[in-house]
Amino acid sequence: MAQLTLAGGTYSMAKDLTVTRMGYGAMQLAGPGVFGPPKDRDEAIAVLREAVNLGITHIDTSDYYGPFVTNQLIKEALYPYPEALHIVTKVGAYRDAKGGWPHADSPAELRRAIHDNLINLGLDVLDVVNLRVMGGGDGHSVQPGSIAESFEALVQLQQEGWIKHLGISTVSAEQIAEAQSIAPLVCVQNFFNIAHRDDDELITSLAKQGIAYVPYFPLGGFSPLQSSELEAVAQRHDAKPMAVALAWLLQHSPNILLIPGTSSVAHLHDNVSGAALELSDDDLRVLNAIAAG
Ligand SMILES: NC(=O)c1ccc[n+]([C@@H]2O[C@H](COP(=O)([O-])OP(=O)(O)OC[C@H]3O[C@@H](n4cnc5c(N)ncnc54)[C@H](OP(=O)(O)O)[C@@H]3O)[C@@H](O)[C@H]2O)c1
Repeated sequence: MAQLTLAGGTYSMAKDLTVTRMGYGAMQLAGPGVFGPPKDRDEAIAVLREAVNLGITHIDTSDYYGPFVTNQLIKEALYPYPEALHIVTKVGAYRDAKGGWPHADSPAELRRAIHDNLINLGLDVLDVVNLRVMGGGDGHSVQPGSIAESFEALVQLQQEGWIKHLGISTVSAEQIAEAQSIAPLVCVQNFFNIAHRDDDELITSLAKQGIAYVPYFPLGGFSPLQSSELEAVAQRHDAKPMAVALAWLLQHSPNILLIPGTSSVAHLHDNVSGAALELSDDDLRVLNAIAAG
């Protein structure tokens, strides 16, 4: 099937790693609470195939979604993978029987996680692995402290040839600096969206260094964004509020890469349409009030 040209352009994280700024996050494909099989398996497969058909070349995932469910769906839907596609995974946690997300960040646990990701995705080498630092407050705030032991373990696996590039997730500027003193980073993945802007300064500093910033929960995550400002700007453009939230992120900084999650082909189309929206200065004035409010 012919591919459409995806709006939003591309970003080069490294010489061998150029992705579309509009990507896709696979977490929503697992069952309720990111646990177990999808509620609609055929739709999950269709979402992945349509994402690639629309021209998306960046899929974010983890073996602990399900666990193993999203990676196995990705392999079933898309293997053998198109050459341009880059699958970015993350390690640092596992799922317990109650659906919790305990740490799994010792060198031995990380080695096992890389092995499992390779098997479940059907790959010989992983393009990008994020070290997900677990344990802060609600699970999505930063847990201060050294990440050196875990990050060094991933660098060791990179040197052995299992990983091409490294990133880190749910981290502070200090933890990013610590990681960079050990090995180069190509991306940082933190909680950020139009209503949750703790990382504004960090994004600017990463942009200056040519490091991608990949906001998770770009649409609000488990509590999707609802705002009269998003609705008002969406009406002006005859667009969906979620598309406006994504357009705002794309215009916010050139190093922002999007990985909105959805389990629905219709929502995938809404989200991709956001990459083509051009927000005016007046739109941005309205939208910037969301975080101030
Ligand atoms: N590093 C980390 O710790 C971390 C943490 C969380 C997530 N992530 C990654 O970030 C990705 C994005 O985060 P996320 O999926 O949790 O949250 P999100 O993208 O902010 O929002 C997903 C939620 O929005 C709904 N949604 C999506 N598109 C919509 C649309 N057009 N209209 C209405 N509702 C819509 C989804 O429901 P439907 O399924 O019904 O569309 C789902 O409930 C994940 O998929 C995962 O890959 C990383």
